Amino acid sequence: MKGLILAGGAGSRLYPLTQVASKQLQPVYDKPMVYYPLTVLIASGIREICLISTPQDLPRFQQLLGDGSQWGVVIEYREQPRPEGIAQAFVIAASFIGQDAVTLILGDNIFFGGDAFPRAFAEFKSGATIFAYHVKDPERYGVVEFDAEGHAVSLEEKPAQPRSNYAVPGVYLYDNDVVGISRALQPSARGELEITDVNKEYLRRGTLRVQRLSRGTAWLDAGTSSSLHEASAYVQTIEKRQGMKLGCPEEAALYRGFLTLEQFEALVGRMPRCEYRDYLTDVAAEVRRVGLIGA
Ligand code: DAU
Repeated sequence: MKGLILAGGAGSRLYPLTQVASKQLQPVYDKPMVYYPLTVLIASGIREICLISTPQDLPRFQQLLGDGSQWGVVIEYREQPRPEGIAQAFVIAASFIGQDAVTLILGDNIFFGGDAFPRAFAEFKSGATIFAYHVKDPERYGVVEFDAEGHAVSLEEKPAQPRSNYAVPGVYLYDNDVVGISRALQPSARGELEITDVNKEYLRRGTLRVQRLSRGTAWLDAGTSSSLHEASAYVQTIEKRQGMKLGCPEEAALYRGFLTLEQFEALVGRMPRCEYRDYLTDVAAEVRRVGLIGA
């Protein structure tokens, strides 16, 4: 399974913050937003990752994330010249995907808690797996409707009259057919290749699996100044209470076995003195003492 992070778009709702750094580079409490989806991929065992962004922003992502070797993964980069839709990611990254299955995660979707993703990745065989999350304002999202047996029966993108309260979050698992399906899509009325149209095609084929995320999972949006602030406050609250960080790729790589403890310690040793380094130093000490119990 390969991983795509889509981190382009105009970021206009966060202007003027996004004048010099894209939305997915903005801080969510103590780390850049893109660290959170990246950590979801690493924690799910994905080692080959491709990040897609605008020609202007891509060099900054490269500066931040490098080739991924520091975390025991490989990160490639591709440009999306214009924001022509989420599903365009599969066309842009076709050479990276090759013959493999692929997961797409949106660079501004932040998740915590639960083990739904690692389980879904481990169980994935073919077709598509997407998720459903109960929200108060489904009209802002892709919306999935279920029948009485819990089977998905319809999908709609930002419907004015939503048929359920279940929104589709920005994590999608697909078999290799997704490349062909995306290539054949027509742009929607808003001029984009819609991810919901990809999911509708899998639904039509009878190979779409929709997994409901439990209420123990938090899915946060960081697309407006106020939701960005709320996401930061949420991360701070959890981190302060638990003494454990969220969205830490170093830690996920250690727990996943992508880094040995020695490699992890060497990586931490190269960081400047800061709270982030102190935290990872404590993680290493705890792992030396009691093993990987926090994994
Ligand atoms: O967050 C989940 C929702 O994401 C889904 O429920 C919807 O079905 C899906 O269409 C999408 O809705 P949004 O309208 O919120 O997507 P937005 O245009 O804000 O794009 C999401 C992220 O993807 C954003 O960080 C920018 C990036 N993006 C978007 C497009 C259209 C790109 O990098 N390139 C693009 O062409």
